[in-house]
Formats: sequence, C-alpha cells, structure tokens
Amino acid sequence: MSDTVSARQRLYQLSNHLPVSEVAPNAESSHITDSKSLTDSIPTPIIPESSTWKRLEGKVIIITGCNSPTGIGIASAYLFAVNGARAIYICDVSATHLFSTHQPQLSRRFPHVDIHARQFDAADEQAVRSVVDDAVRRYGRLDVFFANAGIVSAASGSGSDMKPDGISPASTPRPQQRQQQQQQQPKRFTDLSVSEFERMMHVNVTSVFLALKYATPAMLLTSSHPLPTVTAVPTNLPHPPATPTTNTLPNEKDRNDTREPKTTPGGSFITTSSVAGLRSNAGPSDYSASKAAVISLIQTSCYQLAGTGVRCNAICPGLIETGMTRVVFEGARQRGTESKIGQVNPLKRAGRADEVAQLAVFLASEESSYVNGQAVPVDGGLSAGLPGVVGKMG
Ligand SMILES: NC(=O)c1ccc[n+]([C@@H]2O[C@H](COP(=O)([O-])OP(=O)(O)OC[C@H]3O[C@@H](n4cnc5c(N)ncnc54)[C@H](O)[C@@H]3O)[C@@H](O)[C@H]2O)c1
Repeated sequence: MSDTVSARQRLYQLSNHLPVSEVAPNAESSHITDSKSLTDSIPTPIIPESSTWKRLEGKVIIITGCNSPTGIGIASAYLFAVNGARAIYICDVSATHLFSTHQPQLSRRFPHVDIHARQFDAADEQAVRSVVDDAVRRYGRLDVFFANAGIVSAASGSGSDMKPDGISPASTPRPQQRQQQQQQQPKRFTDLSVSEFERMMHVNVTSVFLALKYATPAMLLTSSHPLPTVTAVPTNLPHPPATPTTNTLPNEKDRNDTREPKTTPGGSFITTSSVAGLRSNAGPSDYSASKAAVISLIQTSCYQLAGTGVRCNAICPGLIETGMTRVVFEGARQRGTESKIGQVNPLKRAGRADEVAQLAVFLASEESSYVNGQAVPVDGGLSAGLPGVVGKMG
C-alpha cells in the first residue's frame, strides 16, 4: 500500500471513528481512492446546541456544602436551577440559611424546580445513603452529585486555600496587623495534631468517598429498573426530620408521579478539590493532602466505572471569595490591601463563586460528555506557572 493510500485510509478511519480492525478490507478501493467519495465520506461535524439552552433539563442533582450564602455550593444550585434541573437537593451540616433563606428563595424564583433542603454531615454514611435513596425514590434517577462540602484547617484562623493567592502584607505591618497576620497563618505540619489531621481527612475526603460510593450506583438506574414506590418519605430516614415544619416545604410533597424517563444509565460526579491539591504553596499540609486525595479518588473511580456512562471530575478553584475565605478578604479590606488580593495569578484578581459554578454546570451537563477523570483548575491561571513576577518575562 502506498504512503498516500495509507494516509487516506487513516483519514477514512478517523473521520468515521472506526478502529483499524473495523475498516473494510476493500475500503481502500471502495472509499479511499476516489477523491469524491472520500470527501463525501467525511461526516458533518456534530454541532452542539447553544450553551444558552437549559443544559440540565430533567436532571436530579444533589449538592453538598450549600448553607454558606456566598459559597460555591449555593452559587451552583442557582446556576443548576437556571439551567432547568428537575430537582436540586441543597445539603449542608449547618442550616442557618438553608431552610429559612435558600430553599424558599430558590423555590420562589424557580417554581419548576423541586428544591429539597437537607441538613446532614457529608461525612456521615447513613445520611449520604439516605439522601441518595430519597432522590431515587422520588424521581427514579440521580444524574449529578456535586460533593462540594469542605473545611479548611481550623488552625489557620482564616480558612482558605491560601497561603494567600497574592495577599501580600503591607510593607511594614503595625504590631496589631502583624498579630492579625500571624493569626491567619496556617499551622506548619510539625504543629498539627493527629486529631486535626484526621478531622480534615474525615470531612474533606470521607465525604467524597461516601458520595462516590452511594451516588454512582444510583446514577446507573434507568426507568426500566423496577423502582420502589414512594408513598411518603420513609420515617426511618434522618431527613426530613420528624418535625416537618423545619425541613419540609410545600414543594416537598410526594413526587412519585413525576418521574422523568431515563433511558441510558450514567451521570456526572463532581467534587470540589483545590489548586492546593495540585501544587504546594496554596494551603496548609492537611488541607492540601485532603484535596490531593479527592483528585486521586476521582481518577481511580472513573477507571473503576469504565463503561458505565458515569463520569467523575474534580474542580480545583484558586482563591475564591466565599464564606471560607471571608476573613482573608475582610482582613485585607481592613488593612487597605484589598487591591493586592489575587496578584500572583495572571488574571490578577480573586475569583467569584459563580465563576466556579459555571464549570460545575458544564461538568454536570452533556456538554462535557467526553471529559472524565480530570482535575480542572479555575484559578485565573495560578497553577499554570512557576513562581515569578506576574507580567515580567524572564
Ligand atoms: N473559597 C476558596 O478559595 C476555595 C478554593 C479552593 C477550594 N475550595 C473548596 O470549595 C468548597 C466549597 O467551599 P466554599 O469556598 O464555598 O466555602 P464556604 O465556607 O462558603 O462553603 C462551604 C460549606 O460547606 C459546609 N460544610 C462544611 N463541613 C461540612 C460537612 N461536614 N457536611 C456538610 N457540609 C459541610 C459549610 O457549612 C459551608 O456551608 C470546599 O470544598 C473548599 O475546600 C474553596
């Protein structure tokens, strides 16, 4: 076979997405040697729908870490609702805003989306199993689990993925400022206790492990599977609790008549890792190790889920202004050094929760149907470079 012909045959294989063994032995004569039929055989590219369409229509979604009003979890819940999700479970261990603010506001703004609020510890096995069961019983499906809940080292005093992303101290800090800055410093690993380290792993890693363990089998259910009939939320589930007024709003009625047909198994598992899970110098050791561990969970799980249609990905934010980083931002504002925030990344600013949520929507939707096993930074470019002065070459 001449070089030209084999190159054409390769083009034929590629354009038809066929493995070599599936190419007809006479493909060379029937398709390739005739340049007209070669052109004809190149398929029209698949043109996806505009990304302004409702990208999550019909999907049943669970998100953890949604109580914080400025957090990534609640920002994602809003964007998931904007994109037409069928039902969203907003979950958190804290409930200061969950039932009183987030659930009613989301329900009012998006009446066609079922908003369920659940208060539980994301690292509690029974609770995670229950919320997944609840979604399956009500809707017969689970499409997306966004394991987003997380904590920072209590020792840091501020909490965040920072070794601040560009929060330089004022040139000569006054004694009070110096004390404040010292309080915001994370502990060195030599000063961490085993219980502090284990707590970090428990909340940030066990929660993701449990979410993977229970959510991914649920994502394999399709409408053809026999499903349990829901007549009421079972009382043995921890949530909603026995006092329905705190946890059950009108739209939490029995939904067993509203199951959307799901014909193909599959789903999207997403977790929030961090740039601190990718590189050093972005957080304390315990936090960084926990965020690296969840990336590994994503990578190993996606291989164990091979052929199932379930994708697993991690989002790696840089410095984002949320409840977790509030003290850092407030401290900088008080010191008048706010303009220094984010100066070590090429975009020279901190990120917003909704900028992370945009990636969560993409990963949750079919638009990311070939994105699997990845740890995707949303960090203004921080993790792209080696340390250096931003904007100065060489
Ligand atoms: N803000 C940043 O700069 C940044 C950067 C990288 C990664 N992250 C990660 O993003 C995720 C979301 O954090 P955020 O920035 O929105 O902070 P946030 O503090 O605003 O929100 C985190 C939420 O998680 C909840 N939570 C904590 N422990 C929980 C548990 N055991 N069970 C259930 N809920 C729990 C908190 O109550 C809170 O509502 C976290 O995993 C965090 O590590 C944040």
